[in-house]
Amino acid sequence: MGPTGTGRSKTLTETDEELHPLRRILPDSSDNQDGVLHIGGCSLPELAAVYGTPLYVYDEETLRAQARRVSAAFASSSARVSFAAKACATVAVLRVFREEGLGLDTVSAGEIEAGLRAGFAPAHMHLHGNAKSDEDLARALELDLGAIVVDNLDELRRLESMSLGRSTRARVILRLALSVGAKTHAYLLTSGADTKFGLGHDELQTALSRLGKSSTLRLIGLHAHPGSQISDARVYTAALASLLETVELVKTHGLGVEEAGIGGGWAVPYVPNDPALAPEDLAASLRGLLPNRIRLAVEPGRALVARAGVAVYRVVSVKQRPAGRLVAVDGGMGDNPRPVFYGAGYSAIPVNDPAAAAKGSDRLVGRYCEEGDVLAEGVHLPVVPGDLIAVPTAGAYQLSMASAYNLVPQPAVVLVSRGRARLVTRRASHGELLSRELDGL
Ligand code: LLP
Repeated sequence: MGPTGTGRSKTLTETDEELHPLRRILPDSSDNQDGVLHIGGCSLPELAAVYGTPLYVYDEETLRAQARRVSAAFASSSARVSFAAKACATVAVLRVFREEGLGLDTVSAGEIEAGLRAGFAPAHMHLHGNAKSDEDLARALELDLGAIVVDNLDELRRLESMSLGRSTRARVILRLALSVGAKTHAYLLTSGADTKFGLGHDELQTALSRLGKSSTLRLIGLHAHPGSQISDARVYTAALASLLETVELVKTHGLGVEEAGIGGGWAVPYVPNDPALAPEDLAASLRGLLPNRIRLAVEPGRALVARAGVAVYRVVSVKQRPAGRLVAVDGGMGDNPRPVFYGAGYSAIPVNDPAAAAKGSDRLVGRYCEEGDVLAEGVHLPVVPGDLIAVPTAGAYQLSMASAYNLVPQPAVVLVSRGRARLVTRRASHGELLSRELDGL
């Protein structure tokens, strides 16, 4: 289908002064055509009519532009750039990133499978995880993935025994628990002496002496992912400096390091004034720090997908409360648990009057039976039941963390580009949700 508007087009991101602040949080192709929000040349009301709501709309142009931007930023350092699939494991999105030449960071046999379906070569994927299952490790070994990022000594022991008898040595990267002073939500902090990820200093010594003697595993790199929503580049320069100091220790075990990985976690704005970490600024801060023979590896998730996605909901009811309007929609914490998990803030835009989007006293709430099911607060939503609301910056960690709470089926996903929309994930159904229940058949 090609739901394009015919009227005069105002590009939100370029010409509309009133909507200028939204430029940072909407997809590149967002348009205000005769007062109706369009993405990728497609009218959101038309998409909602065809595919239903809640609907997740991903803009292919933004996905490709972000992938190219990150690749270009790190091109001079010849870095390995991988997309962290946990941010969005939608196969069509993975395929776009594969076509753009990125690698894939996975954390489970399931994400590896999604990567294979998107056409990634196993050599371009690596496996993370602090408590990988035997199935995860076996699949990674069977496919000979680019690398397995070892998180702990128990995993190293299991991997050693699972890799016995193989003709090739499995490539291993060690994840370190570095303290690099990252400031973020406690749940988004993934490095430090007290977090659950990575090897502490003593554990690292043990891991190195074991790898020094291993005939089935080969150390190729060191890794530290400081956390998520990090806007200060100094966190990454500190992480890289610590990894490089550790290289000296590695050498004392007769081992070498080809790659130093600093993870992802680059901050993106969810509301117009939020801080961000631009890939170009990060790349510039790291330039010159690495010796020639060691390759940099980065694995952003959110920075590649967050702004490309917009969630579209239909208003079900509007109540007047002392503090403002309470606007209830047909989605919520089932498709976006981030506000409940992290107190994450979002913006909200009336689809049929995008210019009205502003700060205000209204609250956008979901349909789930939890008082905490709030999608956005402090917004201005002059809407009535039946109207549509778009929530921008919906591309990362919403669908990938979506649940079927209250037995509400997870939403459909469309990929839009140049006036065409393609259904890439169908809406789940009640039958599907109940299909694992063996009683009552
Ligand atoms: N690499 C590693 C080893 C990671 O653990 C993560 C995220 C990433 C890369 C990608 O981070 P990103 O660039 O997307 O920030 N569910 C949370 C985020 C959890 C991130 C966990 N690890 C959220 O919705 O904010």
